[in-house]
Amino acid sequence: APNISVTNVKAHLAQLQSIATANGGNRAHGRPGYLASVNYVRGQLDAAGWTTTVQSFTYNGATGYNLIADWPGGDPNDVLMVGAHLDSVTAGPGINDNGSGSSANLEVALEVARQHLTTTKHLRFGWWGAEELGLRGSSAYVSSLSATERSKIKGYLNFDMVGSPNPGYFVYDGDNSDGTGAGPGPAGSAALEKVLQDYFTSIGVPTEGTDFDGRSDYGPFINAGIPAGGTFTGAEGRKSAAQAAKWGGTSGTAFDRCYHSSCDTTANIDDTALDRNADAIAHAVWTLAAGTTTPPG
Ligand code: PHE
Ligand code: ZN
Ligand code: ZN
Ligand code: ZN
Repeated sequence: APNISVTNVKAHLAQLQSIATANGGNRAHGRPGYLASVNYVRGQLDAAGWTTTVQSFTYNGATGYNLIADWPGGDPNDVLMVGAHLDSVTAGPGINDNGSGSSANLEVALEVARQHLTTTKHLRFGWWGAEELGLRGSSAYVSSLSATERSKIKGYLNFDMVGSPNPGYFVYDGDNSDGTGAGPGPAGSAALEKVLQDYFTSIGVPTEGTDFDGRSDYGPFINAGIPAGGTFTGAEGRKSAAQAAKWGGTSGTAFDRCYHSSCDTTANIDDTALDRNADAIAHAVWTLAAGTTTPPG
């Protein structure tokens, strides 16, 4: 898989920061900074050769938007989706939450185009609206699909907060191997976990599992029985002493002390965490969607 340029990912974050600054300081559902964010991401994808569509929905009396991008080719009955929420809270620009996942996914999609990637699975990306108001965009998307279309989505990878300034390296625990917290994801989730886990193992970075506790856009997918996975570098939770010993950073303080705050700006990003996660996304996309299949014996 290619090495994703963290410089390019950060350039997308700078654009999202500028959009927030020009639109009252946020990119929230129903505010002009959200639609400007959709238009930025869509413009980049269209110029690169992706097929994009915008799905509208209504929540709280405001129109919300999901941006869907399809890469031509692959098996239409075997779809891999990669998603991130593009909205912020109203309190701030939402650069780690979730400019980070949105921008890392965007740069991976642009690299797919630069390499003219040929895929076995059909590859589809989603940028979700109104996650911060209760997973509204991703829920609208999943419920808009017929049962037939839903059943074609064989996996969903979610990236929400992947550049936390005091980062942890969490991979969604698809098989509930730690035996605690929320249960496992749908069958197939463990395989998605393994692909992401394998990347971090290859670069010598230890990970921990994190539960499917329903706090991000994988929720509607797992509720529909779609296997899911993804990574996360931590939100308001505090880094323990044991976590600081293996990952560095500061124990006893939050993974993201600017979570849902006005200080979630471009200064609120750990470049190393962002870089590693962007590369992990590319590894997963290339492994799962571009991987060669074993011919039947
Ligand atoms: N979805 C949460 C938010 O946007 C953040 C979060 C992501 C929390 C993943 C836990 C796990 O605020
Ligand atoms: Zn949030
Ligand atoms: Zn989020
Ligand atoms: Zn596991």
